[in-house]
Formats: sequence, C-alpha cells, structure tokens
Amino acid sequence: MKVSKKEIVESLLAVNGTYFHIDDLDLYAQKILNLGNAEVIRDADNNLLSYILYYDNQDDVFISMVWTHPQHQGKGLAKKTLRNLIEKTSKNIVLEVHKDNPAKYLYEKAGFVVIKQEGDLLIMKMERV
Ligand SMILES: CC(C)(COP(=O)(O)OP(=O)(O)OC[C@H]1O[C@@H](n2cnc3c(N)ncnc32)[C@H](O)[C@@H]1OP(=O)(O)O)[C@@H](O)C(=O)NCCC(=O)NCCS
Repeated sequence: MKVSKKEIVESLLAVNGTYFHIDDLDLYAQKILNLGNAEVIRDADNNLLSYILYYDNQDDVFISMVWTHPQHQGKGLAKKTLRNLIEKTSKNIVLEVHKDNPAKYLYEKAGFVVIKQEGDLLIMKMERV
C-alpha cells in the first residue's frame, strides 16, 4: 500500500465532519488497507501531498476519498492523482460527494456526471464502457 493507516487517519482528522462524516477513522483506514487501493503523490522528502483512496470492484472503481494537503491545494494535485487513476483502469468510476463540496468541480472537470442525488449526496460517474 502506498499510504499508511496513520497517514490516512491524520490527514482526514481535520476535514472529517465538514462535507462528510466518517464515524471511525481507524476502521475506515483499515478497510482501505485491507480491501482498497491508493494513488499517491509525495514530494522529494516523501511527505504526503495528495491521494485518492479507492476500491477496484468487479464492475467498477469506487472512489472513497480524494485529499490534498491543505498547504498544497489549488495546484492541480488532485487533478493529477485523479488522472493517474483514470489512466490505470478502463472500468467505470463512481463516487459520492456532498452537493456543497467544491470537490464536485474537480470531478465535473474530469468528466464525471451526476447520475443520482440521494438527499445531500450526489452520486457521480465517469462512464467508460
Ligand atoms: C477536494 C480537494 C481534494 C481538491 O484538491 P486540489 O489539489 O486543491 O484540487 P486541484 O488543484 O487539483 O483542482 C482541480 C480542479 O478542481 C477545481 N477545484 C478544486 N477545488 C475547488 C474549489 N474549492 N472551488 C472550485 N473549484 C475547485 C479547480 O479549479 C481545478 O480546476 P482547473 O483544473 O480547471 O483549474 C481538496 O480541496 C481537499 O483535500 N478537500 C478536503 C477533502 C475532501 O472534501 N475531499 C473530497 C471528498 S468527496
């Protein structure tokens, strides 16, 4: 795995409860480590700059989280990690995002479209096949 449990938990502590709520970050991170995968960008000193956590399921890829270090946001890093993931798979890619989370612009610009709204959650999809 390209990212540690500690890194996942620590990176999400500050943003948990804003546009998403993860009850148990330890459990969340452990599940990703066991069953999921990550696309990661680090700097030359190995500091974590940006990541995408995802599940490569049989029928599609489900993006669970996209994160960029607060001091490095707005530099195109999330866009780059997303592009790296898109290039790695030919499956459809699905994600959920709160309707008010500006992250939705990142996804829209990458070609995701809203296929469903469930309360405040937008279900977005990049259709490949
Ligand atoms: C969402 C997040 C990952 C974006 O990371 P980032 O590295 O700053 O994003 P990028 O610089 O790669 O931006 C990519 C595109 O999305 C757009 N975008 C990103 N954040 C935006 C914002 N707050 N408002 C408007 N557009 C935004 C950018 O304008 C950019 O478009 P462009 O290529 O046309 O300039 C980052 O803000 C974050 O970590 N948020 C907290 C965690 C979170 O909510 N994740 C999403 C959970 S679904």
